Amino acid sequence: MTPYYSKITGWGMYVPENVVTNHDLEKMMDTSDEWIVTRTGIRERRIVADGETTVSMSVEASRQALEKAGIGPEDLDLIILATSTPDYLVPPASSMVQDQLGAQCGAFTLVAGCSGFVYGLATAAQFVQTGAYKHVLVIGAEVISAGIDWEDRNTAVLFGDGAGAVIVSRSTQPGGLLSMKLGSDGSGWDALIVPALGTKHYPSHEHIANKDHKLKMKGRPVFKFATRVMSDATMDVVAQAGLTMDDIDALIPHQANQRIIDLALRRLNFPAEKTIVNLDRYGNTSAASVPLALVEALEDGRLKEHDKVVMIAFGAGLTYAAVVWEFQPFEVTPDEENEAILVTNWPVDSAFQRKMQEMRVAAWKMKVQARTKASEASMAIMLPLYSFRKGLKKRMQNGNGKEEEKKS
Ligand code: UT7
Repeated sequence: MTPYYSKITGWGMYVPENVVTNHDLEKMMDTSDEWIVTRTGIRERRIVADGETTVSMSVEASRQALEKAGIGPEDLDLIILATSTPDYLVPPASSMVQDQLGAQCGAFTLVAGCSGFVYGLATAAQFVQTGAYKHVLVIGAEVISAGIDWEDRNTAVLFGDGAGAVIVSRSTQPGGLLSMKLGSDGSGWDALIVPALGTKHYPSHEHIANKDHKLKMKGRPVFKFATRVMSDATMDVVAQAGLTMDDIDALIPHQANQRIIDLALRRLNFPAEKTIVNLDRYGNTSAASVPLALVEALEDGRLKEHDKVVMIAFGAGLTYAAVVWEFQPFEVTPDEENEAILVTNWPVDSAFQRKMQEMRVAAWKMKVQARTKASEASMAIMLPLYSFRKGLKKRMQNGNGKEEEKKS
């Protein structure tokens, strides 16, 4: 039993002013706006200017979050900065953020790829729900553009820079983190990798010539992993909270690819209108993607008090993380933190109601599992067919070329 609930009391975001559109990229590499939009949904992204870094953007987003929560940096008990692109390998970027904010608390950097912010949110909730801490600052921030090979069209068109931050506070109002699932499948460690920027391989001249200090990605396996965990992990956390997708007011997915999101929505039978998407404007900002979508939706009123929201992310590792979060009334009452109560996290009271709810959740879970199996089976048939057709077309084109060569 935990004596407190977690509550998001403040939020903020920062994106660089510099906009790079698909048309700008067309001028830099062999790609097209049409390819990028149809394959990913991305239209433009923000890229840092000189002087903008993971730390500077984190500080900016955090200041807004502190102001919104009505607290000062001295009130923070902990800072968790999720990033894979720190200003330096050493020291941890989180300590630089702590210093620049003027906070006097502990701070650590959390590296869990694009899932980092959701990992951080789940971690922060543990500190406040146990009563140990009052206010934890959670940030997701990245300067992915610095680690991109701008000649590699497989990665360069996908990513962008930015930072989002929230304050997770201790509260006696029911809600906050209702359930969580943190996952890792390290067998896919090399699907998203910077091969030579760690202690195994510091970049040598040869590495630099091969661009091994830049991000490499095997898009297809990541795509497959993402579509599976998006629906599976969402279903797991929703069921764990004693809910079905009908009870969920909004879904905030990792903003990697519209096709991945669409596939997950189909499996979960969840409406697109209730899904928060901003990848068309920011691209994939890795650990910043969920908080940027969250903050925008809170700011423009798409997320309201008492809404139950799923946040789900996946990324390098390979990792994934999902939570169900219920927003309490945003107004903070002065005595909110003084009286502790016991949390059950269970929305219904009587044993009968509870049994009925369990049956409803089990039936819904079976339906989603069946839909997922059917869609995976159709992918297993269609993908080889598609590749075969593509290969055939290529062979025919080559054949025609040779015929024509012979004729001439
Ligand atoms: O946060 C996690 C980060 N990673 C992800 O979420 C990535 C997940 N994967 C994906 O989103 C997709 O796999 C991609 C968007 C990366 C690629 O889409 P795809 O439908 O899997 O394309 P593909 O890799 O199979 O490539 C299809 C074709 C290839 O040409 P050929 O071999 O068929 O002639 C590529 O060379 O598209 C080509 N291609 C491009 N063409 C124009 C790849 N990138 C580009 C590009 N512009 N930028």
